[in-house]
Amino acid sequence: MKNDNTLKTLTAAGLLALAVACEQPAQNKLADNLYMYTIEVQQKYLLLPIENEATEVKMQLLVENTPIGEPINIRIAQNQIDYWIPIEIEAYKGKKLTLSFNEAQNARMGFSKIKQSANYNFVYQEKYRPLYHFSPQYGWTNDPNGMVYYKGEYHLFFQYNPYGCKWGNMHWGHAVSKDLVQWEELPYALAPDKLGAIYSGCVVIDKDNTAGFGKDAMVAIFTSAGEQQVQSLAYSLDNGRTFTKYEGNPVLTHPTIVDFRDPKVFWYAPTQQWIMSLATSQTITFYGSKNLKEWTQLSEFGEGIGNHDGVWECPDLFPLTYEGQTKWVLFVSINPGSPNGGSATQYFIGNFDGKTFTPDPLPYPLWIDYGRDNYAGVTWNNVPAEDGRRLFIGWMSNWDYANEVPTTNFRNAMTLARTLNLAHNGEHLVVASKPVKEMERLRNETISLPNKTATTTTFEQLLNNNDGAYELTFSIIPNGSDNFSFSLLNDKGEELTYIFDIANKTLVTNRAKSSVAFNANFAAMLIKAPLTAKKSYTIRLLVDKASTELFVNDGEVVQTNTIFPTEAYNALRFKTDKGTLSIKNVTIYKLSASETAISY
Ligand code: FRU
Repeated sequence: MKNDNTLKTLTAAGLLALAVACEQPAQNKLADNLYMYTIEVQQKYLLLPIENEATEVKMQLLVENTPIGEPINIRIAQNQIDYWIPIEIEAYKGKKLTLSFNEAQNARMGFSKIKQSANYNFVYQEKYRPLYHFSPQYGWTNDPNGMVYYKGEYHLFFQYNPYGCKWGNMHWGHAVSKDLVQWEELPYALAPDKLGAIYSGCVVIDKDNTAGFGKDAMVAIFTSAGEQQVQSLAYSLDNGRTFTKYEGNPVLTHPTIVDFRDPKVFWYAPTQQWIMSLATSQTITFYGSKNLKEWTQLSEFGEGIGNHDGVWECPDLFPLTYEGQTKWVLFVSINPGSPNGGSATQYFIGNFDGKTFTPDPLPYPLWIDYGRDNYAGVTWNNVPAEDGRRLFIGWMSNWDYANEVPTTNFRNAMTLARTLNLAHNGEHLVVASKPVKEMERLRNETISLPNKTATTTTFEQLLNNNDGAYELTFSIIPNGSDNFSFSLLNDKGEELTYIFDIANKTLVTNRAKSSVAFNANFAAMLIKAPLTAKKSYTIRLLVDKASTELFVNDGEVVQTNTIFPTEAYNALRFKTDKGTLSIKNVTIYKLSASETAISY
């Protein structure tokens, strides 16, 4: 994670004093380090010009001299305008609105370009905009948060910066879906307050009104990240459309632990209490509560087990069954510490008795996804028992380069929603994952290619008019070969290659030549996953403009890797160094768009 300077430099009161003292009209440069922009609101939006690499300034919005919300860190354009960010101001029509900036260099050309507008126009379908993954319309996203199913809707909240495409000003964005495939983005749900920015957390449905916010209240439990990291509550009585922060916040603090965050809560029926898993530096601490407001420490897990190369984040504890037996799985995201660099999510399998998590002896660390781009994922709360699935979504990026990926109006997306289950890989239990079955509804054109047995073979054209959003399924029978590969290719000489190094029990992804150059660390390394020897491998690969999600043998081995090719990959090549490969049932599905774009 990154520095959070929110609230540090200029208080709202300081800016208010300045705004009142300086009653000048329109746009004023008041001093080298201060700039005020004042208008009478007539339109729907205020449009702010942003430059990705500009230094941040602190901005306070005031209406009739009263500060609205907390100061915002924003990269107002200095030299060039990369994109525009809208602020909805319609509610203040006819009133005086002021933007007050501090730490603003004189030369910030963007100040003079700020404007009111009836519309916010931007190119939604930019080059690397996914067609069937959730991404915010504009602005930055990282972790998925607060996933909960309620009254026919899957809610997906997410770490969100509505004021730029780099990390900062953490809000909870919000989207809903009826099928985990088609997402509709709603206005953001939670904005920073006096306790700080809104970091990751969860949502529960309080069926028995244990917290007193109302029966069936949707309660968000999240980290307020200001001077300290503390846990807070907010509740919604209108299906998540509006949230009220609990006036007794924070509900859980710690005097010394700095990294104290990302609560994930569930109701544990045997002891009739809520259980919270919380990341506490490099352990997970479990807390119990009868009412979501008072929490008691139950136990702490993690010392001396698993990977400790970075800070532990975003835990999730939940049951899965294997052959009729219930096991408990604990997810722990870690940054850095990934076997492939940067951030990744490790897990433990064991038992939970309502107080303590006891891991089974397995070859830890184990990772839910051995690709580089699946982080901070957790599972949905309140999925109906008759559905019975354990549903997961992750953030499809990596802290190593997330702030630099070559998109314009938005940055980063979520993985596909996935179903988790326990599987046996031939050596031990693993958490397997695969796309939710609803994904199959997006298959709107199907092409089947002939089976082949060869040393090298290339299917030259996967799709006519390939827009880079498709799914491939096939089986590879190695016929004794212990080193073979398949690659996606395009006419620009770019390629993404998956190497099955059976001799070393490793699946290796090479994306060194897969993408435009934007960050050395992105392309540099070979991305490795453990692979057990099998007579045949079933492959499912979902490609969506800038992402690839590979599921081997029904999700026993998973790799999610982003790619930024110059043009869509449209050829598929198989190769082995010795003998032949048999390639069977190659099927290509063209996939259609999922997100309902908000019209601005
Ligand atoms: C994980 C994380 C969380 C934190 C959030 C802040 O990516 O660092 O631990 O709550 O991001 O945006």
